[in-house]
Amino acid sequence: MNNINNKKILLIICGGISAYKSLEVIRLLKKKGAIIKTILTKSAKEFVTPLSVSSLSQEKVYDDLFNAENEAEMDHISLSRWSDLILVAPTTANTISKLSVGSCDDLASTVILASNKDIFLAPAMNVRMWEHTSTKENLNKLKKYGYKIIGPDIGDMACGEFGEGKMTEPNEIIKKIETYFLNFNKNKKFKALVTAGPTYEYIDPVRFITNKSSGKQGYELAKALSIKGFETTLISGPTNLKISNDINLIQVETTEEMFKSTQNNLPVDVAIFSAAVADFKIKEKKKDKIKKKDFINLNLEKNIDILNYVSTHNSLRPKLVIGFAAETNRIEENSRKKLMEKNCDWIIANDVSNKSIGFDSDFNEVTILYKNKKIKDEKIYMKKKSEIATKIVDRIVDQLN
Ligand code: PMT
Repeated sequence: MNNINNKKILLIICGGISAYKSLEVIRLLKKKGAIIKTILTKSAKEFVTPLSVSSLSQEKVYDDLFNAENEAEMDHISLSRWSDLILVAPTTANTISKLSVGSCDDLASTVILASNKDIFLAPAMNVRMWEHTSTKENLNKLKKYGYKIIGPDIGDMACGEFGEGKMTEPNEIIKKIETYFLNFNKNKKFKALVTAGPTYEYIDPVRFITNKSSGKQGYELAKALSIKGFETTLISGPTNLKISNDINLIQVETTEEMFKSTQNNLPVDVAIFSAAVADFKIKEKKKDKIKKKDFINLNLEKNIDILNYVSTHNSLRPKLVIGFAAETNRIEENSRKKLMEKNCDWIIANDVSNKSIGFDSDFNEVTILYKNKKIKDEKIYMKKKSEIATKIVDRIVDQLN
């Protein structure tokens, strides 16, 4: 089966001698039925012409960030949203350096920075440039940010030297893209559910008990699942976050609402419970606002444990149930206890002992603990929540496929 047919690919061509090979990349992708829009960087136009690119791709070629005509037709954000995948071929040392610091001074780098899609880089440069420590360090950063790197290959270079730095041959690049979409299409048959954020437990109509969860980790997980092709439902307590339309967002306030929405959205193949759910609720919520002079004594009762309910009801139980455990001490030991008590397949032990990570931070530090002792637990040291989400979702994809 051809997995590239009808896929929308945004090809970014940078200025290097291998830019001529990108014409062959376009030809092969077209042959497989892809729809290709192209961005040429300023220096790419020294190597290939917009006319040859548009003739092959049969689409408009974009080249200037500040072009009113382009922005009116399709702005830099729409261009990245339009695509199913972004391919940068060739990727020069200069572009690698720019991306590693998040620079966005032209259309290509701006689209990449604004992108919510997977991005493949096919580096091409002289062997010394490739081996330079700065290139290596920049590339390591990009890998950590989730960029996927194709090549480069070893061989004779246009500059007359020999070594690693040749852009991977177009047919090999196409194979990588084909595999990517094959996995994407496989994941499309999977449904995922994520709980995120805090819950509110009302004392009276305007007062409630809650916690510091921002929802960031759960939203990143939903995004990462959706990027990998999962049909994703995100059940979120109150947050200030936004999420793209391809994710089914259900907003709730209380634990009871989160529980009902979870039940209504089963069955799924994988469920991730990252919400910081209130363990207790007010036994008798006051109908009217409590007056200052009133004596109040909060009478609490236990909330339903959503994760435990889902994982112990066989008819509803997803193939993969993943809990989170926010812990400040004896993190792995306490988390493993929760893994067993809550009948999860995996638990993500979340270190929240340090204020700069975990709750309401862009960073997190976790360990994936597996019930199956044959799989080695995996520590993910402090990273952006988006990177942690990508790692966890990569493991989910491995497990389900
Ligand atoms: O939202 P952020 O600011 O990005 O922060 C992310 C986070 C720190 C909140 C998140 O990564 C995290 O660790 N979530 C779990 C929070 C927690 O304290 O969990 P817990 O130990 O109370 O509960 C264990 C597991 O049971 C969790 O998967 C929880 O969602 C689930 N649970 C708990 C109670 C309950 N009534 N129902 C549940 O489903």
